[in-house]
Amino acid sequence: MTAHDPALTPRPNAAPTIYAYDEYDRAFVRERVAEFRGQVERRLAGALTEDEFRPFRLMNGLYLQLHAYMLRVAIPYGSLTSRQMRQLAYIADRWDKGYGHFTTRQNLQYNWPKLVDVPDILEALADVDMHAIQTSGNCIRNVTADHFAGVAADEIEDPRPTAEFLRQWSSAHAEFSFLPRKFKIAVSGAEHDRAAIKIHDIGLRIVRDATGETGYEVIVGGGLGRSPFVGKVLREFLPRADLLSFLEAVLRVYNRFGRRDNKYKARIKILVHETGLDEIRAQVEAEFAAMDRAPFAYDAQEFARVAASFAPPPYETLPARSQALETENAEFAAFAAVNVSPHKTSGYAIVTVSLKPIGGIPGDATSAQMRALADAADKYGFGELRVSHEQNIILPHVKQDDLLALWRDLEAAGLSTANAGLISDIISCPGLDYCSLATARSIPIAQAISERFADLERQRLIGKLGIKISGCINACGHHHIGAIGILGLEKKGVESYQITLGGDPTLTAAIGELLGPGVSAEEVPDVIESLVQFYLDERRDGEAFIDTWRRLGHKRFKESARREGEDGSGI
Ligand code: HEM
Ligand code: SF4
Repeated sequence: MTAHDPALTPRPNAAPTIYAYDEYDRAFVRERVAEFRGQVERRLAGALTEDEFRPFRLMNGLYLQLHAYMLRVAIPYGSLTSRQMRQLAYIADRWDKGYGHFTTRQNLQYNWPKLVDVPDILEALADVDMHAIQTSGNCIRNVTADHFAGVAADEIEDPRPTAEFLRQWSSAHAEFSFLPRKFKIAVSGAEHDRAAIKIHDIGLRIVRDATGETGYEVIVGGGLGRSPFVGKVLREFLPRADLLSFLEAVLRVYNRFGRRDNKYKARIKILVHETGLDEIRAQVEAEFAAMDRAPFAYDAQEFARVAASFAPPPYETLPARSQALETENAEFAAFAAVNVSPHKTSGYAIVTVSLKPIGGIPGDATSAQMRALADAADKYGFGELRVSHEQNIILPHVKQDDLLALWRDLEAAGLSTANAGLISDIISCPGLDYCSLATARSIPIAQAISERFADLERQRLIGKLGIKISGCINACGHHHIGAIGILGLEKKGVESYQITLGGDPTLTAAIGELLGPGVSAEEVPDVIESLVQFYLDERRDGEAFIDTWRRLGHKRFKESARREGEDGSGI
């Protein structure tokens, strides 16, 4: 059966700038849907118990949360066409509650699907070359990449062809379908890391060697969760020709030696930590030297074919700066200053559309907003969108001349909040509102902080500040790498929030340091307020929060947050 928005049919599946599935991909996804339909039918008929059904549903991205099932849809390296976005909106309306949640791993989650409808949802996804395969389970998960890929002014090379190669290599990879634990890979090709590569199981950074050849710095063993680690350099320069065979060797070593006795110690970060980087390197290099590399041989023509599908759209020749930016409109000027980033092509801009309205749920978009985003992409951006790990949406190819018109359209859809990278651009996991593993709420904490700092002018004055919140130690909300991190725990039946400072997701990655004992939900905005005030009092010209924290040291911030007269409940 086919279940899609009838308005979609005549449109091509891919924007001219996105890799399109071939017949092999399409057949594979359809077969999976048919297989899962049978499994769901057997579950509904009682022929499978929940325990028997569990591995089947997890292989297809279907989780069981607190109140309902949750379906996690993959958005490979964060790239979407307007057509796909419209279909996501259609699914939200037809089978869910009219919205979707964009996550920190460039996925989209539906929080309320009914089991009986899931096969139809997957069929509707397949209609636009999408699926939920490998978004759960102990396999290689959705490969993520810089959301400014192909357009960033600081780019060495577009990471998407590499990410697409990895998608093809890792999809349904039989040997790596039952790893000791899940495995996450991120790729960056720019000077600045926007893909958080150092907190992934493998982070790849595209670099050039002395001869100008591009290859990869391979970083291994990063991760968050209950034992956070910053990844370490396994190979400084890996030639492109060795990419798949080398990663195959890393995964083989992990598959063989990763701990299967304790799921909390099963990630590669623990193997690297317990074995030591030098020993892991020796094991990987030995495997790499001994293995039959023929099946993974590099095909330069194939790489060129994949790369060509990410070719730039037909840009116009334009002056570097549009007259349209000389504006009297203060609100638009603020949006242009905060949410617009430099593009590698003259006269164009990258626009970050914030999914963090003041007091809103970070990462949520209604179906109407998804359609507005798809329309904006068609009207102003060659039909292409990106999803960022910061839970925002990117329009990667906007003419500067069109920025004002785009801003007006976004405003009409409630999508013009000018807070990208500012204090209310908070990353938050679903926490106790949805997640069965949560120990505390995280969304309401994000909302309270956002409301406390609602004044956008004040936010701009405060400048770049990443707050990240998780509702339990699993750290899905990246709290360890927030300049201010907030971890919700439960102490004697009461929610308690631990605050950390100094976390950093970029190439200077660092795990945040604990400020002190936990505080109550109500106290969190006050503590944030006092930390921000201390920073504003102490900062030097041009210093972001994290820079001041680094210069002054953790102790000074800790002292500043100490409040008198509280018997241990406060910091
Ligand atoms: C049903 C809901 C969810 C469940 C059961 C769940 C489960 C987990 C668990 C158990 C871990 C720790 C893994 C480890 O350390 O080995 C984890 C980490 C993580 N999850 Fe989730 N998660 C959920 C939702 C989410 C959401 C909504 C996001 C994105 C907003 C997300 C993104 C991540 C990330 C980025 C990490 C940490 C990075 C790492 O793997 O080291 N998860 N999750
Ligand atoms: S951090 Fe904990 S509460 Fe939040 S989504 Fe992950 S498992 Fe759930």
